[in-house]
Amino acid sequence: MLNFPGVMYGGDYNPDQWPEEIWEEDMRLFKKAGINIVTLPVFSWAKLQPNEETYDFGWLDKIMDLVARSGMKVCLATSTAAQPAWMSKKYPEMLPVDITGHKRTHGGRVNFCPNNKTYRKYSVALAEQLAKRYKDHPALFIWHIGNEYGVYCYCEHCAQEFREWVRARYGTIEEVNKRWNMSFWGHTVYDWDEIVPPSYLNEMFKDTWNGYPRDSTCFQGISIDYNRFMSDSSLACYKGEFDVIRKITPNVPITTNLMGTFKPLDYYKWAENMDIVSWDNYPSMNDPESNIALRHDLMRGLKDGQPFMLMEQTPSQQNWQPFNSLKRPGVMRLWSYQAMAHGADTIMFFQLRRSFGACEKYHGAVIEHAGHENTRVFRECTQLGEELKKLGDKLIGARLKSQVAIMFDWDNWWAVEFSSGPTIYLKYIEQIEKYYKAFYCMNISVDFIKPTADLSRYKVVLAPVLYMVKPGAADNITDFVKKGGTFATTFFSGIVNENDLVTLGGYPGELREVLGIWAEEIDALFPGNKNRIVVKKPYGEISGTYECGLLCDLIHLETACEIASYGQDFYAGMPVVTENEFGSGKAYYIASDPEQGFIDSFFKQICIDNGIASALDAGRGVEITERFKGDLKYTFILNHNPHAVSVNLWDEKYHDLITGSDMEGAVTLEAKGVAILESKV
Ligand code: GLA
Ligand code: ZN
Repeated sequence: MLNFPGVMYGGDYNPDQWPEEIWEEDMRLFKKAGINIVTLPVFSWAKLQPNEETYDFGWLDKIMDLVARSGMKVCLATSTAAQPAWMSKKYPEMLPVDITGHKRTHGGRVNFCPNNKTYRKYSVALAEQLAKRYKDHPALFIWHIGNEYGVYCYCEHCAQEFREWVRARYGTIEEVNKRWNMSFWGHTVYDWDEIVPPSYLNEMFKDTWNGYPRDSTCFQGISIDYNRFMSDSSLACYKGEFDVIRKITPNVPITTNLMGTFKPLDYYKWAENMDIVSWDNYPSMNDPESNIALRHDLMRGLKDGQPFMLMEQTPSQQNWQPFNSLKRPGVMRLWSYQAMAHGADTIMFFQLRRSFGACEKYHGAVIEHAGHENTRVFRECTQLGEELKKLGDKLIGARLKSQVAIMFDWDNWWAVEFSSGPTIYLKYIEQIEKYYKAFYCMNISVDFIKPTADLSRYKVVLAPVLYMVKPGAADNITDFVKKGGTFATTFFSGIVNENDLVTLGGYPGELREVLGIWAEEIDALFPGNKNRIVVKKPYGEISGTYECGLLCDLIHLETACEIASYGQDFYAGMPVVTENEFGSGKAYYIASDPEQGFIDSFFKQICIDNGIASALDAGRGVEITERFKGDLKYTFILNHNPHAVSVNLWDEKYHDLITGSDMEGAVTLEAKGVAILESKV
């Protein structure tokens, strides 16, 4: 089903915002830029269905035919992310109620109650109409359902559906009381309809300290389940459309565009229902490259390493960030190849032609407001288009191989940040970013996995802040270490079960045996306050002292031994970094939040111990990854620096796919330059 003929290159196109005379000109420009796929019609429900009885596909037929005649493909969107105004007017229960209890009015987008039956009915009906109409259309290449799902609703109907969801999950009301610990604050319920969605009207509140707000809740158990339920509710909308499309076009792949580290939806569950993961990459121009790489790797991990689609990125700038800098010359190309270096098989943009009204008129596009091809952005897009054409299908389907994995879990994310105490400053993603960065800077490939994933193919597995240990996770980790794996986790791990109930008997609960420690208390430090990690005798790459802060677990050794201890406060001298030999493996615990330098050195040593090294040596700001296909290896070298660099290739012989020349000895990359080197495995 997924036989991409080459790198699909194109993006979102909104012809219905433009007079037809422009369409032909657009086709000319797209062809000129090397574009071979256009995504349409993402937001055209109102035009496709002007009223309850009528569909109007005439204009879409025309543009689909034109795209086909021009030799391009269509990523066909179902247009269901924004329902028509007449529909909201006639069926006002379709409009969601937000977390503050406000009933929303029509407008915006993704502004529907995901459990509303009429929304479901009409979105599926539109998807069905589109599938029937275009099933044999030569341009139809892939389906794009909805757009960036993610609404949460708190309406009365969602409340009823939530009760059903809870009943299906837990069976009896007694079990619900147990799971959510409802005897706390006298919350015991005796009937299903006493369960209400957790919102700002009841359990939820904003926790703010110095402008650092986050959603908090009095009942983590209920709130986490509501997130699960809301993620499932939007997924059911997607699934409704998926099922009807699958029946009519069984051989056309189906996807929806995800958003990287997007908190509201459990993307692992979503990916099970997608033929290929696709996602929208919108970093801020001052984000570290490691954070972009991380999100690509996370998206690749959703479907077990299968290549993904870069569905959207901007050719130049965004409009919705506070400061929308231009991508400097070469950066769009560099970041496009970065996506491919981490497993993308497509490079697509939002948007192909820049709209002239409403909020996205200052969002970059392949065709700018000038309307012609004589722009920097168009030239850069054209250059990339030409290069991608040359790559053909060489990289399509090529996989990365990682010996290191980081456990990432949405339930855990929700639980960590719903936690009332010990600190509101703990952000799950920031922790993941710090640990990922250590490997990124060494050019060591990392997979993202679920806590229950098969660990046997990895040498090193990290689980930063694995606060929630879901069923099966602890056994999985313990077994991995027993068999020789190296595992590392941090402070505030092993604390609760899947319902956010503390595992009694001492932290880190189910992970206590494998880590060989007992955490007795958890201290929270005020922002700016620090403790110290004192390494008593140098441990490979780490020696001396480092700063730590945020949280400090006060731990006791059981079977583990101490690598470093706290340098101050009443717990000075207590262990802060420990190592436990367990079975034939090792498990490490980092009991506080260290400065980056410690994490970098510590995991450098772990990599040395495990014989994990990067493919090539390169200096700062040079990113290297490898993708494998058959007996060929593709080494991506990406120079993020504003100056040229040279990378030693040692004795291997390579063929540079972009320049078409053979390489030996060393490769020189200009500022923001890229090389994709083919070699035999
Ligand atoms: C999202 C949407 C697009 C567009 C872009 C702008 O990714 O899917 O429709 O709004 O943002 O960056
Ligand atoms: Zn609702």
